[in-house]
Amino acid sequence: MVTNRHVSKCCLLVLLHISVVCTDHESCDTDSCMLKEKGMASQAVVLYDESLVSPFHKPSRMFVFVGKELVIKQDWKGLGIAAVVWDAAVVLCEYLEKNKDLINGKTAIELGAGSGIVGIVAALLGGKVTITDLDTALKYINEVVDENLKDNPGVDVDVKGLDWTKDWTKFTADYDVVLGADIIYIEELFDDLLKTFLQICNENTVVLLSWRYRYNRDSRYLELMRQHFTLKEIFYDSSRDVKIFHGKLLQKNKDKAR
Ligand SMILES: C[S@@+](CC[C@H](N)C(=O)[O-])C[C@H]1O[C@@H](n2cnc3c(N)ncnc32)[C@H](O)[C@@H]1O
Repeated sequence: MVTNRHVSKCCLLVLLHISVVCTDHESCDTDSCMLKEKGMASQAVVLYDESLVSPFHKPSRMFVFVGKELVIKQDWKGLGIAAVVWDAAVVLCEYLEKNKDLINGKTAIELGAGSGIVGIVAALLGGKVTITDLDTALKYINEVVDENLKDNPGVDVDVKGLDWTKDWTKFTADYDVVLGADIIYIEELFDDLLKTFLQICNENTVVLLSWRYRYNRDSRYLELMRQHFTLKEIFYDSSRDVKIFHGKLLQKNKDKAR
């Protein structure tokens, strides 16, 4: 029975239509997804409690980085995985903030940027940043960047299309840092992603990859990458189960890159 006390505590009594929204990638082992109704579609009277809404379904999320409030709008229904903030991105932002020297004064490119939050934070930390993703995500990323950096005219950010399957040769190995958050998940793209890394990294480039293990195939990508890069785990956020790897081209690839 719902009492007044319950209603005032939880603020709202709502009729929720609970539908199946989880895809393979949003399945319930991810990012505090609280909607575990996979395989069901039903109507239920429930007390609305903000903490029970999957973070992916919130229209926007707020973060504070580099002393600045960032409001990152999300569009899970429209754009899917590219238009939400993944834990791996938050962990990488936190890591960069604590290790500013990795990015301050450096040229950086972010692959599969999604909301662009990592690139935005990297730019606020003094990096000259190119944020990339599929063309379909660029309008959204530009909006997020404009909204959050409009009061920071000195911040250096560019947003560009980079599809690992076809655009990698359009980019050259001019970057000090390559950033990637939660970009290892589609096995069919592993070769293209690796080709992209090899194209844009020079002998001094530092790769920073944040990653959550979900499937065996994800580890296979790391093994693939280790054939060309040193890849060391440098950080583990146990509360979010996200690791950060630091990589540099192996000597054999450096020789080729020269
Ligand atoms: C799980 S999301 C991670 C987004 C963001 N980095 C984050 O952590 O919040 C994976 C991202 O990879 C991008 N992506 C998928 N396939 C791609 C491809 N072929 N080329 C470039 N980006 C791709 C998606 O558009 C999406 O933004």
